[in-house]
Amino acid sequence: MSDSLPVSSNQTGMHEDLQTVVVKHLQTAFQRPIPPWVEDLADQIVDACSGRPLILDSGCGTGHSSVRIALENTQCFVAGIDQSAHRLKRSPLNLANTPENTSNAAVSLLQSATDGSSDTLLPGNLRYVRADVQDLWRALLKRDVRLRAHYLLYPNPWPKAHHLMRRWHGHPVWPCLLALGGRLELRTNWEIYAQEFHQTLLMGGASSIKMDSVSHSDAMAHPMSLFEKKYAESGHTLWRVTADLQ
Ligand SMILES: C[S@@+](CC[C@H](N)C(=O)[O-])C[C@H]1O[C@@H](n2cnc3c(N)ncnc32)[C@H](O)[C@@H]1O
Repeated sequence: MSDSLPVSSNQTGMHEDLQTVVVKHLQTAFQRPIPPWVEDLADQIVDACSGRPLILDSGCGTGHSSVRIALENTQCFVAGIDQSAHRLKRSPLNLANTPENTSNAAVSLLQSATDGSSDTLLPGNLRYVRADVQDLWRALLKRDVRLRAHYLLYPNPWPKAHHLMRRWHGHPVWPCLLALGGRLELRTNWEIYAQEFHQTLLMGGASSIKMDSVSHSDAMAHPMSLFEKKYAESGHTLWRVTADLQ
């Protein structure tokens, strides 16, 4: 049993500057230069898709969720992206060895990751990419890429009020995330993050926006990711926001 503490913050509700910050970002282009090696990565992802729809698992951490997404979307190409080499080193890519192409594979990967064993093959429609998504999202957009789906599972909450602009919906890269399109899914154990994300999607013109929570028993039985597993075992509510981006 995990005993992860709930998110603690000096915010008691949605940030009072949310609207101002988001409007500013919706009206301003994010100018940070994209490193050449990230441009190359974007080319490689486009090549690897070979015409298949692309799904991103952004901030995939150890990438166990990416395996599940790839197994459930065999007609798509899935890129699990994280900036941390350390986290990706613990990905199924470095654990896998035996064929078992079923949706149970992701669950057994989660179990194996925690008990130290592993016996599952990485699906062929999945690649892990080490990059800062702030750059890779924009490099993909430059190539006119539009996503089938986009997962943001348990992003760092940045709970201090003065960290609003580090949360994805308060970040200057937010308009690029919207422009990538597809079915967007955020999961978080911090209700205020989910509320702000939901509100920001409303401001950005997304459709079918919904906020709910993942069933606790489902998350315990079939966690999407290691963080989901940890938070479910700690009894946290697992908030989910979904939307369709044009
Ligand atoms: C709290 S972890 C969640 C990992 C995983 N999604 C899960 O649910 O188990 C957040 C992850 O986002 C990654 N991350 C944060 N900012 C990022 C960025 N700008 N680009 C790529 N990855 C980032 C971190 O390295 C970390 O692995």
